[in-house]
Amino acid sequence: MNANTKAYKQAAAEAAVAIVESGMVLGLGHGSTVAYALEALAAKLSSGELTDIVAVPCSQATADACQQLRIPLTSLDEHPRIDMTIDGADEVDPNLNLIKGGGGALLREKIVAQASLREVIIVDEGKLSPTLGANFALPVEVSPFGWKSQQAYLAGLANSAILREHRGQAVLSDQGNYLLNCDFGPIEDAFKLAQALEGRAGIVEHGLFLNLATDLLVAGPDGVEHRRANPPS
Ligand code: A5P
Repeated sequence: MNANTKAYKQAAAEAAVAIVESGMVLGLGHGSTVAYALEALAAKLSSGELTDIVAVPCSQATADACQQLRIPLTSLDEHPRIDMTIDGADEVDPNLNLIKGGGGALLREKIVAQASLREVIIVDEGKLSPTLGANFALPVEVSPFGWKSQQAYLAGLANSAILREHRGQAVLSDQGNYLLNCDFGPIEDAFKLAQALEGRAGIVEHGLFLNLATDLLVAGPDGVEHRRANPPS
């Protein structure tokens, strides 16, 4: 990651934390951009600028970071309604639809996004894309049971469906599932593809986040731009 990209991620993250109000229940996503938001949030909590915040983490890694930074944690069961979630994305289209899951946390991220009044997405400008799939392979989380059957199904829809591995071992999500990186190229109809994926047993979740983002904070050389999603008709 080059220095500009790091600075843009940090700027977008700090702009999101600037929206946070005392007393909020927050969702906190996963990834390198969110890590900057955690630092900014922790600084405001320790200075007393923000108080009475509790946060639902979207991954074990985020939970661990929050504990280190003394950000108070809660669960979605204790707080089933979240005021605002701050999360990153891998690709963002002009309608604020997203590909997420590059960090493997898509299932919890989507559960938390669905429970959030505001879903604030923080990205550097390199994540913007005219069409989802043009720049990033879609992560799909599958049950380990019969996973090769899902791989064959996905390879029939996409150019390729490759198991995410580390040192020859399948990478496990926090739920103990496998992840397949599916290269679709530019996706003509993301809603239709989402339906096809959701109708298949064994596919636990996919990284298409459609009509979920309410706000986008995108940072580039001219600063941070705040875009709001049109409410779905
Ligand atoms: C995590 O599963 C993803 O959805 C992340 O939000 C996404 O990969 C963005 O990551 P970075 O902020 O590290 O680019």
